[in-house]
Amino acid sequence: MSLTNYRTLGRSGLIVSPMALGTMTFGTDTWGADKTTSREIFKTYIESGGNFIDTADIYSSGKSEQMVGEFITELHLRDQVVLSTKFGFNSSSSPLSTNQSKGNPNAGGAGSKNIHRALDGSLARLKTDYIDLYWMHIWDGVTPIEEIIQTLQDLVTAGKIRYYALSDMPAWIAIKAATISHERSRTPPIAMQFEYSLVARDIEREHVPVALDSGMGIMPWSPLAGGFLTGKYKRGDPENTGRLSGANPFGNSKFSDRNWLILETLNHVSKRQGCTPSQAALAWTMGRPGVASTLIGARNVIQLEDNLGALEIKLTKEHESMLDQASARTMGFTDTLASPEIRKMVFGGNDVLRIPAS
Ligand SMILES: NC(=O)c1ccc[n+]([C@@H]2O[C@H](COP(=O)([O-])OP(=O)(O)OC[C@H]3O[C@@H](n4cnc5c(N)ncnc54)[C@H](OP(=O)(O)O)[C@@H]3O)[C@@H](O)[C@H]2O)c1
Repeated sequence: MSLTNYRTLGRSGLIVSPMALGTMTFGTDTWGADKTTSREIFKTYIESGGNFIDTADIYSSGKSEQMVGEFITELHLRDQVVLSTKFGFNSSSSPLSTNQSKGNPNAGGAGSKNIHRALDGSLARLKTDYIDLYWMHIWDGVTPIEEIIQTLQDLVTAGKIRYYALSDMPAWIAIKAATISHERSRTPPIAMQFEYSLVARDIEREHVPVALDSGMGIMPWSPLAGGFLTGKYKRGDPENTGRLSGANPFGNSKFSDRNWLILETLNHVSKRQGCTPSQAALAWTMGRPGVASTLIGARNVIQLEDNLGALEIKLTKEHESMLDQASARTMGFTDTLASPEIRKMVFGGNDVLRIPAS
């Protein structure tokens, strides 16, 4: 596989690469990349055939969008790239922002006032007059979904965005958005973004079935668990200078006993596949049902090239199943509802297949 193995994003006509370039590192102090390195990362991804760029208004307080806008302009790529950005985090106070002062509550969230404010800012920083894919970065817990859909629909009609999508939301919000937009003949959300990796599989319970049923392409973020699945962290290793070492904005939640065991299996599998742990971890994520395009993040070009190498890795059935088993999540109530035993009870002892309509 390569970056030019294009595919549709969800049930839409938007054509994207199997890996999207995440630009959260662009312009971020301490764990990110400066402008020169960000430009190299961007150019390497584009020269390798990639067409899908992911940023957000909140990344490095707007510097990521500014750099992306500049690189696109320098390389005359506006028509060629699928440009996506996000609204939702408060621009005057956010964990990812350098400005920590409390501020305007309407400078964040998914209310109409903020979406219009955020989009105008993003368009200016990105030096463009339209966004291809506009993401609700995070569900704010208060704005009615009807208002969100109406606002985004108006922006589609006005030609300011082409499509929209949902990130970091409960599954019920996503299915409600898909159902309402379908019933009211509105533009539906076409994709979902959430953390998905060998050490983060919770979303398989509710979100993945929603995505498959409602025609939303899945875009996993942190497929390397912020660097943990590269294998560079060792238990108790104080030397590592990756973004998860020492005091860091991501916390140390990845360093659990369970995750170290998953990493052992990953190291074993990657040796037998003849690839790096990062490549095996990315190949596993890209192969999951419903995954349309996987977000890759890098601090430098060496990391990016390592990650792009995952496109050439096809995990054997045996290795895939070793990884599946090592990382299996605890089954919950809704999992048991779909079990073969329950179906047999329902269908008089018969196996019944569900053939997806699309
Ligand atoms: N929607 C959302 O809420 C959300 C949230 C997070 C991210 N995202 C998007 O997803 C993208 C990717 O997320 P992520 O950055 O968390 O992904 P990730 O792949 O899990 O982590 C990337 C980090 O791992 C390390 N790394 C990456 N490749 C490596 C390699 N081959 N060898 C060694 N270290 C390597 C680098 O950090 P160090 O060098 O510091 O170790 C890099 O910054 C972001 O850029 C952003 O666009 C979206």
